[in-house]
Amino acid sequence: MSVLDSPSNRHSFLARSAKVAAVPVIAAPAPPTPTACRATPRSRPRRSAPRSNAQGHYVGRINRNMPRRRIRARGPYEHHHGGACTNSDSSAGETMSDHLHAIESAGSYALGPWHVRRIGYGAMQLAGDNVFGPPRDRDEALRVLRAAVDSGVNHIDTAQYYGPVVVNELIREALRPYPADLAIVSKVSARRDAADAVLPFDEPHQLRQGIEENLTTLGVSHLAAVNLRMMDQSTPGTRFDSQLAALIQAREEGLIDGIGLSNISKRHLLRALEQTEVACVQNLFNLADQSSPDVLQECTNRGIAFVPFCPLGWPRSVQNQILTSPALAALGNRLQATPAQIALAWLVDLASNILLIPGTRTRAHLAENLDAAGVQLDEASRAELARHFPVTRQSA
Ligand SMILES: NC(=O)c1ccc[n+]([C@@H]2O[C@H](COP(=O)([O-])OP(=O)(O)OC[C@H]3O[C@@H](n4cnc5c(N)ncnc54)[C@H](OP(=O)(O)O)[C@@H]3O)[C@@H](O)[C@H]2O)c1
Repeated sequence: MSVLDSPSNRHSFLARSAKVAAVPVIAAPAPPTPTACRATPRSRPRRSAPRSNAQGHYVGRINRNMPRRRIRARGPYEHHHGGACTNSDSSAGETMSDHLHAIESAGSYALGPWHVRRIGYGAMQLAGDNVFGPPRDRDEALRVLRAAVDSGVNHIDTAQYYGPVVVNELIREALRPYPADLAIVSKVSARRDAADAVLPFDEPHQLRQGIEENLTTLGVSHLAAVNLRMMDQSTPGTRFDSQLAALIQAREEGLIDGIGLSNISKRHLLRALEQTEVACVQNLFNLADQSSPDVLQECTNRGIAFVPFCPLGWPRSVQNQILTSPALAALGNRLQATPAQIALAWLVDLASNILLIPGTRTRAHLAENLDAAGVQLDEASRAELARHFPVTRQSA
């Protein structure tokens, strides 16, 4: 039974009503730290080697005794990379197939008509500071993308306004021709101006334009899903309906396979479901800020993928609550995991419809995040996490 489904959590989740979290369209990146089916049952390997050092920094793959698996050649992607990364291309002295084993243990879930592994990758961090302009290290950005896919990630989140354009072009350069099973998901309703401000771009014709721009910059004929990202906290009404209609039209024309909703309340979700199928919901949700529990519960009940953005916490103060938490460090010592891995494992454990898209600009953090899939929480860990990180944010 997942934590979400347990009677006590179910009660606390359902007892809260829903208010959209007031979060920015683009979460400011934190500085570098020191250092399609229903969910399949997870069988987690036992771990036998520590993965964090005394400072809580990640030091290696999950289980040095874990039998290694070779990555099968992956269709057109082979032309770029020839299969698994070698040690020389890996940041932690590992083959990327080590991470494949870990992320496969988390299973997969439906993303509309697609089936994706539950551990994906969010590409927002690959742009420059404040998600604006080119990356600090372009070569590393390309390597991160290739390493993610070589490790088995088949769900990448992006947006035309990351950069803007920068992140989509990096994805295109790193990964095209795309593996057939790679679900690229984008979002529309915002744009950047020359001074890096984030502005609404959410009239129905602008949403259509946003979808078409994503297709062009990514170099694809269609996208697995596009999220309608709500830019304000208004009650859903006729304007929301007309925005949704633009995405329905794009889906009917084959430009997108699924419609997603982002930064929404339960009322948005229920109103949208009266009009169309919803492939995924992307809301702020993490261990230290459990916003919109009612939206998560509704998605779980209906078999809709729930994709928590900023899974390591936002803003910086909230992220610090996770990454520097003494409770997580202590739990990490027991479970041989870093605080970041525990925060991600908590999400994987919470409900089988949760798909992760943690973001990073480094292969070291990518490896750490992918291996979080193999961290097994037990009842004592769940209880401890619930005690230290209670649900505090009320939804309406
Ligand atoms: N729908 C929306 O409105 C919306 C809003 C925000 C984001 N998103 C999507 O959600 C994805 C995830 O959110 P996010 O990238 O903002 O936040 P996140 O995944 O919670 O955290 C990213 C931040 O944490 C750091 N980090 C990553 N792995 C770490 C680790 N193992 N240990 C310590 N620090 C680590 C990263 O720095 P390094 O780069 O140095 O690793 C970066 O500063 C984004 O990439 C984007 O695709 C959607």
